[in-house]
Amino acid sequence: MRPSRTQTLAMTIDEKVRKTLAELGVTDAAGVEALFGEVRAAMEQERSSLVSHGASSEAERDRLSKSLRDRWLARQNGLLANIDERWLKTSPKELKPSVGKSFNGLRQAAAALEMDALVKGVGLKIPTKVAAVDAAEIRGAGLRDLTLPGYCRPLGSLHPVTQMQREIEQIFLNLGFRIEDGPEIESVYYNFDALNIPESHPSRDDWDTLYINAQTVLRTHTSPVQIRAMEKYGAPLYIIIPGKCYRHDNPDASHTPMFHQIEGLAIDSDITFADLKGTLDFFAKKLFGEKIHTRFQPSFFPFTEPSGEVAISCIFCGGEGCRVCKESGWIEVMGCGMVHPQVLHNGGIDPEKYSGWAFGLGVDRYAMMKYDINDIQLLFQSDVRFLEQF
Ligand code: DAH
Repeated sequence: MRPSRTQTLAMTIDEKVRKTLAELGVTDAAGVEALFGEVRAAMEQERSSLVSHGASSEAERDRLSKSLRDRWLARQNGLLANIDERWLKTSPKELKPSVGKSFNGLRQAAAALEMDALVKGVGLKIPTKVAAVDAAEIRGAGLRDLTLPGYCRPLGSLHPVTQMQREIEQIFLNLGFRIEDGPEIESVYYNFDALNIPESHPSRDDWDTLYINAQTVLRTHTSPVQIRAMEKYGAPLYIIIPGKCYRHDNPDASHTPMFHQIEGLAIDSDITFADLKGTLDFFAKKLFGEKIHTRFQPSFFPFTEPSGEVAISCIFCGGEGCRVCKESGWIEVMGCGMVHPQVLHNGGIDPEKYSGWAFGLGVDRYAMMKYDINDIQLLFQSDVRFLEQF
């Protein structure tokens, strides 16, 4: 006799695989999908409970893994073998395609129960010492399992780019700067026009822009937040702006379409190029060590005048020349300059009363330098074997 609905609900997976679909009252594709969904959830639950519980020795880990694997995958009488026998082989013709499809999906998911995969996932616990716990207290509390080692969850850590960003932020916070942020989906006005980069000006091509529509882009740099902050706070203003930026770049060892910048902006009365040089030299020494030197070379950015490129003496060879600095002894670390009067004006600040300096740097490259990483792709592939080194 076909079991009632409540009886079916109360059955365990082990009981269900001993019945045919007809006996379980499954007569259509939706029912098949629901049933297989239940099996997958049970399988995942058993796997994750083993993984999170861990094992206290290699032998125990292997034994627990093997028993879970056999329970599901043993050729003789494993749960999948039963499902094949009772649900797939005997299913009515019209249900075969959906049972076959779900069964294949289940089989693929069951790869996570093969010994190799399990053994990798199940952590080994360091046995907890319980000697210090008073025996009477254990008896009094009626606790039996104090000798059972606790759950061992792998500990995460901050991403190397986040660590680098925080280190840079801290230096400027200590100088009295504040942290500001802005949208990653930005208007063409803030990303370009307000920064003195007019349409059709060739310098717009320096930023390989991802357009969302004619007026909207994924910001190509953090500079648009300069204008937003000027509008919001006016002068004086001392801020740094960390954040994600996007460019239409092909991924290679030094490019990713998404990357991180930190922008700096100082606006006040009587700010001069000497303030810019002094602050950036101080920053570089704090971050890379007192021994390094800074070099300022003229450059061009539409939003600063004059503009500069800052280099530090190579932190790997001390300026002698090596593979990293391409034998030049110098590593370029940021663009900078005195804020263009037109940009101050666009931000609602009177360039007759105030002046300012700004810089922009690539955080990912700093992290690569600091941690000696030679391929930027590694930073964004989320491979735990890489990330757990930091
Ligand atoms: N926004 C520039 C870029 O993405 C970097 C930059 C250069 C920012 C000079 C600045 C600056 O604020 O003054 O290439």
